[in-house]
Amino acid sequence: MSTHETCVKVSLAERSYDIRIGTGLLSEVGPSLRGLGFSGRVGVVTNPVVRRLYGPAVMRSLRSAGYDALAIVVPAGERAKCLRGVWTILDELATARFERGSVLVALGGGVIGDLAGFAAAIFARGLPFVQVPTTLVAQVDSSVGGKTGVNHPLGKNLIGAFHQPRLVLVDPRTLTTLPAREWVAGLAEVIKYGMIADDAFFAYLEQHMRALLRLEEGPVIRAITRSCQIKASVVEEDERESDRRRILNYGHTVGHALEALGGYRRLAHGEAVAIGMVQEADLSRHLGHCSGEVVARQRALVSEAGLPVCLSRVTFSDLWAAMQHDKKVTQGRVYCVLPERIGAVTIAPLERSAVKQWFDQRHRKHATEGSGGVT
Ligand code: NAD
Ligand code: GLY
Repeated sequence: MSTHETCVKVSLAERSYDIRIGTGLLSEVGPSLRGLGFSGRVGVVTNPVVRRLYGPAVMRSLRSAGYDALAIVVPAGERAKCLRGVWTILDELATARFERGSVLVALGGGVIGDLAGFAAAIFARGLPFVQVPTTLVAQVDSSVGGKTGVNHPLGKNLIGAFHQPRLVLVDPRTLTTLPAREWVAGLAEVIKYGMIADDAFFAYLEQHMRALLRLEEGPVIRAITRSCQIKASVVEEDERESDRRRILNYGHTVGHALEALGGYRRLAHGEAVAIGMVQEADLSRHLGHCSGEVVARQRALVSEAGLPVCLSRVTFSDLWAAMQHDKKVTQGRVYCVLPERIGAVTIAPLERSAVKQWFDQRHRKHATEGSGGVT
């Protein structure tokens, strides 16, 4: 282990695995697979951007460890997260005669992890797979917890399976090539962990946001490690999202609605989650679950990260209608994660009339302050 390497265990009985976080771990992919006892072929699923940046290091590591490694390249971007993308992977695996002893490596952001994980879940009734996430969203969220899948024209992530990885290898150095907008979008998920589970971590983020924005190694590794610890403990308690895991959707009820209203083009996922968290906290205050101080502290941190906070140019009826299409709607009721204080949340059904009253009050307040949209 390098001085800065940390390890988080996800304890799920026979599906347990480690999340290793440390600078330089990309060159450890081959030895790590050996350490897990894999002896068959290795398929590395990636996209052209990540392949160019990190493909050589990963392939070198695998080949030095004696593996016959095949790169499987799908197009970059959310549009590749579809059944056609899965088919491309399955087709390459079948043509190259991959079999049960083979393993897949997902090298890329959340799109690659979700796609490769789903292909691994269904090829030959299940191949093992290893996550090597290269975006902040993937390093703190999507690579951990076993949700895999693709989008359907009628819904994001509508087709999928739970399939836990056998290992997650996080090399924070990959974040240095990430476009600034993607890096900042990932910070929304990091802030989310502080809000839902750990007030001390939230305070740490308040103190170190500038260092994080400068990508300082120590704070970055600490932020990724604590985020993964929180996600791991939630997943250990409720792997299949029957109850507690729903707290990970904080900011997503409004966030997903905004993403859908923007045609998944206007806002990055993390930006939508940032606005969602700010608005859901304010709704929580309106409903009497938390104080204005909670709303203000979160809003200040989200803004300092450079994330958006405003619900601009959205009407209540569009927002409410989009919220009804969320996958987390249960028996026709919209459930929302609402902060009680920094580090603690509750989950409650939303009444249309109460949300409309909140929305109208916010809109009126903002209109009297003199600009369009709702803050
Ligand atoms: P992404 O995978 O699309 O990556 C963003 C962009 O960054 C891509 O264009 C990619 O090519 C590029 N990129 C990746 N790594 C890079 C690097 N190191 N340097 C330069 N460019 C790099 O987006 P994302 O934000 O990582 O993931 C979003 C996806 O993750 C969504 O589909 C979302 O639904 C999914 N997700 C899944 C879970 C889960 O639990 N499974 C959780 C959160 C999000
Ligand atoms: N990203 C939410 C979850 O993994 O449950």
